[in-house]
Amino acid sequence: MHARTRRNCIIFLPNLLVSSHSLGTMCIGAFIWQAHPLYPLLLIQNRDEYRNRPTKALAWWDVDGVEILGGRDEVGGGTWLACTRQGRVAFLTNVLELHPHPDAKTRGDLPLLFLESTKSPMEFAHELAADAHRYNGFNLIVADIPSKSMVYISNRPMGEPVSIQQVSPGLHVLSNAKLDSPWPKAQRLGKGFKQMLNQYGKTQVMVKEMVEKLMKDKVKADKSKLPGICDLDWEFSLSSVFVEVDTPLGMYGTRSTAALAIRAGGQVSFYENCLEEGVWFERTINYTIN
Ligand SMILES: *[C@@H]1O[C@H](CO)[C@@H](O)[C@H](O)[C@H]1NC(C)=O
Repeated sequence: MHARTRRNCIIFLPNLLVSSHSLGTMCIGAFIWQAHPLYPLLLIQNRDEYRNRPTKALAWWDVDGVEILGGRDEVGGGTWLACTRQGRVAFLTNVLELHPHPDAKTRGDLPLLFLESTKSPMEFAHELAADAHRYNGFNLIVADIPSKSMVYISNRPMGEPVSIQQVSPGLHVLSNAKLDSPWPKAQRLGKGFKQMLNQYGKTQVMVKEMVEKLMKDKVKADKSKLPGICDLDWEFSLSSVFVEVDTPLGMYGTRSTAALAIRAGGQVSFYENCLEEGVWFERTINYTIN
């Protein structure tokens, strides 16, 4: 079984590399929700993409009259992490899979659909469920800070009903499988995040320090612990929290690291460390939820 899977993957690998759509944005994020003394939500996330894919750095943009703060993918027009003045937050990761559909709808639109809507996270999730099969595998988290509601939505495994789950208070890690799946890098990040939060205790988190220690981590997983969905060498390259891999289509890897810290009083601090033409730039945009 294992040998067969690997052979399929090797045949598949060139396709994987040729179609930038199929690999897409493989993000990893860790967050603590409704369980920290200062922050109802504290999230750190890496976005992995081809380095040459046009991207707009963290900024406010207007989407059909709604002000949205986040980075933006200029190819698909969507985002992987963004929030609004009203305190709606959405973030997305792709599910690692062998045969994504080239004609599927753009997953990067999913966060925008939620941010533009006025539905509660749960209502939105049920509305999206009807349409979820038209996208490749995704994990989407949508939250409304004022009403303390956060919902996880995923359209995988294929053939099963769309999974919709209220996110429980506590620490969670989202990579390229179901929420809190014990993938090696997700476990490593979760453990590191927990340790750092314990160190800070009830004091303000030093976002840059945390991002530097946890999100720039290039330690790879033990090959025997990889999920074995694709070619093992490829999975090995993607097995660190910070990814950097040379492909025939150019460098692929982490090109944006973000931290979103929302305080109980509604003060939002969105930090991004983003690679722009080979240079890492830092930005922080602060605002207060209306
Ligand atoms: C934004 O807020 C953070 C956290 O409160 C603070 O450390 C930082 O100095 C603020 N930055 C700006 C540009 O206002």
